[in-house]
Amino acid sequence: MCGIIGYVGCEDACPILIQGLKRLEYRGYDSAGIAIQYGSQIQRYRCAGRISQLEKMFDPLTIKGTTGIAHTRWATHGEPTEKNAHPHTDMKGDVYVVHNGIIENFHILKRKLEKKGIEFSSDTDTEIIAHLIAIHFEGDLSEAVRRAISMVEGTFGIAVIHRLVPDQMVIARRGSPIIIGVGDKCHYAASDVAAMVRYTNKVVHLNDNELALITKDEFTLSTLHAKPIHRELETVEWNAEDAELNGFPHYMLKEIYEQPDTIKNATRGRLEPSEGVPKLGGIEPVWKELKECRHMVLVGCGTSYYAGCVGRYVFERLTEIDVEVELASEFRYRKLNFPPNTFVVAISQSGETADTLAAIREARRKGAKLLGIVNVVGSSIARETDAGVYNHAGPEIGVASTKIFTSQLTILTLLALLLGRHQKLSLTEGIEAIKAIRELPDLARKVLAQDNHIQSIAEKYYKYSNWLFLGRGYQYPIAMEGALKLKEISYIHAEGYAAGEMKHGPIALISSEMPVVVLAPGDSMYDKVMNNIQEVKSRKGPVIAIITEGDNRLKDMVDEYIEVPRTLEYLYPILTVIPCQLLAYHCARLLKRDIDKPRNLAKSVTVE
Ligand code: M6R
Repeated sequence: MCGIIGYVGCEDACPILIQGLKRLEYRGYDSAGIAIQYGSQIQRYRCAGRISQLEKMFDPLTIKGTTGIAHTRWATHGEPTEKNAHPHTDMKGDVYVVHNGIIENFHILKRKLEKKGIEFSSDTDTEIIAHLIAIHFEGDLSEAVRRAISMVEGTFGIAVIHRLVPDQMVIARRGSPIIIGVGDKCHYAASDVAAMVRYTNKVVHLNDNELALITKDEFTLSTLHAKPIHRELETVEWNAEDAELNGFPHYMLKEIYEQPDTIKNATRGRLEPSEGVPKLGGIEPVWKELKECRHMVLVGCGTSYYAGCVGRYVFERLTEIDVEVELASEFRYRKLNFPPNTFVVAISQSGETADTLAAIREARRKGAKLLGIVNVVGSSIARETDAGVYNHAGPEIGVASTKIFTSQLTILTLLALLLGRHQKLSLTEGIEAIKAIRELPDLARKVLAQDNHIQSIAEKYYKYSNWLFLGRGYQYPIAMEGALKLKEISYIHAEGYAAGEMKHGPIALISSEMPVVVLAPGDSMYDKVMNNIQEVKSRKGPVIAIITEGDNRLKDMVDEYIEVPRTLEYLYPILTVIPCQLLAYHCARLLKRDIDKPRNLAKSVTVE
């Protein structure tokens, strides 16, 4: 979705902003723009399409100016055209604004301003902010922004510059992230640390209804009511290299290959083998209530939701807690009553997904306690939950979520094990679990070692236009996740189904034209899944099975197989999903898709 980068300093802003925009590309966008200030002149360039297009509009070396703002836009109000791309300006061309979020009362405000003779030059909701700031400007940019945004309803993260106040930028936030980056004689502003991590790892997050005036030497943080705020700098643990391809052709492949490390990072310092209990420092603030919890709701969207679906089975196996899983987009509108001491656990890579954020706000209103399993430190969900566990997986840049999924599964397992040890599991079971969890990174490496074999399977099947993914129990959510991976990056139609449901409908689709990926590790559902495979085979459906290594019975029965090493039943999903990710990746590559930036998709869905 939309991305913001801003700079105030001593160096030319243009190359820094272009670099920042490139780091935001992964979020998904359809147009881009930049405004650079030199004294009392501001030059603006905008275009529909890619940043490479924008770069062709000017020679960065000739654009002077040490202050500027830039934006990648994902269209909501108005088509993705040059006139709708940010930065937007007022009629005189004094104020320049980039904005993430949605101004909900923009139609009413627009009508009022039009009556006063103000002409609009775009179809966007953002332009209203530029006009309002211009109307309120009397020499103090912070004050003008403050007065303008007090009139708007909706969400915003904005960065603003003004022709008459050089070397200043004002940023503000309500509902859409904006972060200050502190450099050497310069400051940055961005909606996402990825845009500035190359330049600084010292950041300050703005909370909702806060504003900052930024110059090269300092930043002044205050509330929207002008009450000063002091906030300590935070250090971002990602480095510039984490956001580079490092020799991989795509971020998605790089991130698939990072999984042995990211699984390990999810457990680092969190395993206590002798006592068979994980240690999760992040949940200490709520531990007293959490250990007594008997009702939990896991919420998320997309891949994070599927992680929750696996989590439910793991919690059922290891704890005495009743666990529900809900799509955040549905949960937020349901009429729910929570039993006392209910915990709602938000699962989110970005920590900024609008539906998940709205879901936890609704849960809070209904009296639930909130936990977060989040990758992006300091993100909205991390800040709005009572406690939580970070993934520490580094930036996930590929739109298709991969390494975060296995990291989320690992953390959910640690949480379930911790609670389970408190509720019903013996020391022996705890020790056995921790031993198996520690082996996971090596086992994931073994799955990755079959990449060439998986690629050869993709070569045989990538031209088929409909695929089915089947699984039971712990593997049912993996079937759904496998189908999601395939469809989102290859645009092949794929469905994930509970294998036991096949006879209730999908079996009508089976033919030699429909590859069926069956998740069939040696778990308690093995015999049932075997029956489903036979049903597919007797209708000439080609079966690609993901099996436990050495399972000769299945090897003889299916068309293709991919082996995963043996592990505990509730840990298999962490391994069986990896072949699904690689299959999707190779099919998409053979179909020449834009793997890291699939059409219509955004990395972080910050609007409903
Ligand atoms: O940042 P989040 O984990 O909250 O994002 C949730 C979904 O938007 C995300 O998982 C999406 O489904 C991915 N594109 C899946 O690969």
